[in-house]
Amino acid sequence: MKENRAGLVIGLIVALLGATVTGAQEAGDPAVIILDVEEDGGVEGPDTPVGPVRWGAPLIGGVPEIRGKTIEEVFTENSPLFPPLEGLPEEIWKGQTCTNCHEWTRERICEQATNYLNPDFADNLAKEHPLGGTFKANLKLWAEDGCR
Ligand code: HEC
Repeated sequence: MKENRAGLVIGLIVALLGATVTGAQEAGDPAVIILDVEEDGGVEGPDTPVGPVRWGAPLIGGVPEIRGKTIEEVFTENSPLFPPLEGLPEEIWKGQTCTNCHEWTRERICEQATNYLNPDFADNLAKEHPLGGTFKANLKLWAEDGCR
């Protein structure tokens, strides 16, 4: 079993889907919060990740939605462009910030990013969630350099 769910607050989804799983975190208010995060940063840059990637420095390459933001800003400000699980209704994931479903800390993001260095996790890198792959490729570059 691959440890690829670090930081995930699965309770939210479970609650929204109406399923009950023992041990799942309480979802609190299951209402979907639609946040207006339509901000077109418009930062110039290539559409492929460029290293070195540093925690406190803006990402240079990748989809326009992440360019010019730090890793932390992506997690606190962005919304996914692709669903975390295939077939998940849009009202559950669209317009939500990452932090609504995840409790990522720098440490956990580093752990996840370090997984991407392992060939066993190639499948994870290929998954479109959250932002089409270029964000995870940036995370991989960050981990390659020791998550600095
Ligand atoms: C609606 C809830 C939800 C939102 C919002 C969400 N995620 Fe996720 N995310 C998930 C779930 C569920 C998984 C686990 C998918 C799996 O195991 O295949 C996941 C997995 C991930 C992974 C691991 C993917 C992998 O296979 O390596 C990363 C990284 C991630 N999310 C980042 C983000 C980021 C960044 C955002 C915001 C732009 C975000 N998520 C928004 C639910 C969400």
